[in-house]
Amino acid sequence: MKANTLRQKYLEFFKTKKHSIIPSASIMPDNDPTTLFTGSGMQPMLPYLLGEKHPKGTRLVDSQKSFRAPDIEDVGDNRHTTFFEMLGNWSLGDYFKKEQIEWMFEFLTKELGLDPNRIYTSVFRGDEKIGIPKDDETVKLWQERFESVGVEARAVDMAERDGMQGGRIFYYDAKENWWSRSGVPDNMPVGEPGGPDSEMFWDFGVDLKIHENSEYKDQPCHPACDCGRFLEIGNNVFMSYIKTDAGFEELEKKNIDFGGGLERMVVAVLDNPDVFMSDLFEGMKIKIEELTGKKYGESEEVTYAFRVILDHLRGATFIIGDDKGVTPSNTDQGYIVRRLIRRAIRYGKQLGITQELWLKEIAKVVIEDYKGTYSELERNKDFVLEQLDKEEIQFSKTLEKGLRELEKGTDPFVLFTTYGFPIEMTQELAKEKDIEVNVEDFQNKMKKHQELSRTASVGKFKSGLADDSKETTCLHTAAHLLLAALKKVLGTEVIQKGSNITAERLRFDFSWGEKMTDEQKTEVEKIVNEAIQQNIPVECNEMSIEEAKKQGASGIFDDKYGDVVKVYKIGDFSQELCSGPHVENTEELGRFKITKEESSSAGVRRIKAVLE
Ligand code: ALA
Repeated sequence: MKANTLRQKYLEFFKTKKHSIIPSASIMPDNDPTTLFTGSGMQPMLPYLLGEKHPKGTRLVDSQKSFRAPDIEDVGDNRHTTFFEMLGNWSLGDYFKKEQIEWMFEFLTKELGLDPNRIYTSVFRGDEKIGIPKDDETVKLWQERFESVGVEARAVDMAERDGMQGGRIFYYDAKENWWSRSGVPDNMPVGEPGGPDSEMFWDFGVDLKIHENSEYKDQPCHPACDCGRFLEIGNNVFMSYIKTDAGFEELEKKNIDFGGGLERMVVAVLDNPDVFMSDLFEGMKIKIEELTGKKYGESEEVTYAFRVILDHLRGATFIIGDDKGVTPSNTDQGYIVRRLIRRAIRYGKQLGITQELWLKEIAKVVIEDYKGTYSELERNKDFVLEQLDKEEIQFSKTLEKGLRELEKGTDPFVLFTTYGFPIEMTQELAKEKDIEVNVEDFQNKMKKHQELSRTASVGKFKSGLADDSKETTCLHTAAHLLLAALKKVLGTEVIQKGSNITAERLRFDFSWGEKMTDEQKTEVEKIVNEAIQQNIPVECNEMSIEEAKKQGASGIFDDKYGDVVKVYKIGDFSQELCSGPHVENTEELGRFKITKEESSSAGVRRIKAVLE
């Protein structure tokens, strides 16, 4: 089964269960200062899981572009990727466990044709400390399903993680079977939702001998053991609690958050434990084979290098090719893109690629293969290819020089600031050359560097929810006024490229090729402040996408399946597609002041502003 077919089957299946198909949100989160990338389908849904009304109803299904930066170092094995598509279905206070389990079982066994004898599941074993009971209800639901197709389904407790014990359904602790964005209950900040979950695993079978080769070979195998025999193909989160000062409280409306990796489902159907065997990588592989004369699978080393290139260049293409695309740089998302590209180049060298400007050849394949689902890739194609070329040229210039510096014993911090060598790459190169690197010293210097250059983003990486404080909401409304003012001063061609709002300040990226003059900045401030002083009410209207376009609302109209959107209107001044929240009247804002205007990347300027 092809990945495109599987994705479509999933969306259509849930459509028959009365779900609205919604498009993927950006891979760069909106107004969320706590995280650089959208790492799961759930992230963009957060306001709705906390009770805000979704314009498309209470049953939703999608395929969300997701990126997990911490997994970069794990790429190379048979299952880790940084970028992936997360298939997701949601009940926003609508159906709950019974429907979810029945539908999932039906989807896996009927639609995908997976053999129920090789599906295993896990459930939460409860936690007295936080007052959350054992999830016997879900066990019963799974048992009914399995027994309906003649598969015995014993539930066993995994407190000791002592092997299969003849089980089909496994009770694990919070580490395995509790889901919130911040992980286990103890790590959750007040205000964050979460709940017990139930995962589904595909058994590739012991015959594959993966377990015997893994570091877990001395432990008895069980579904969540991570040895390679089992692959988690989906997670049903019963999002029914919210963390409060007093502990966990049940949410008024209980939600379902299901997430399953597309490639993982594909390879379960193929019964091949290597996610890189999904057809999604086929075209890219052929291209790399052309460039290198080597074949995927010919040796462990070659396979590893292929996987890094496949994963990293696909990820970089999706990040740069997003409508809020970012470019390689030394900070934030740009830094991750840079790391992806530079690691891919290094592994390309290892495979013997000599052709110059080869990265874009791979990106072209990615765009071709995915544009039917993610049309922004085609829209932003030139930009992606141009950026890849640029970074490749820049890196090859610095690589030689940096290597010489490293051998001379130059400080990794200087390598980073002067040559753009990510510390991880310095470490890898140093290892090859048997040179010691003092990472702690590097990190201390980095900390100081960041404090100096980014005082405005203090608190940015603190874990937890994007806050919905009054200050943040005010700045969010101010960002709408800012966009409208920029269009007035610079021209209507200005489009928003991204924003990041904390309680202290707003940061706003927009398309514009040159430095703004002082006059332009003053004019923009003046226009925003006039709008604030006019005490304009902020209205939220739901309308069809066609109507929103007709009315001239700003925003990214990529809702290809959609019909109803939310439009926030501030008098005749501003109209934008947005999911909120906003203040009720501009009088709440205070005085708007631009604190900085600078380049963000090629053709993109960045404004930082505050309300005083
Ligand atoms: N939000 C859940 C996850 O990412 C489905 O695993």
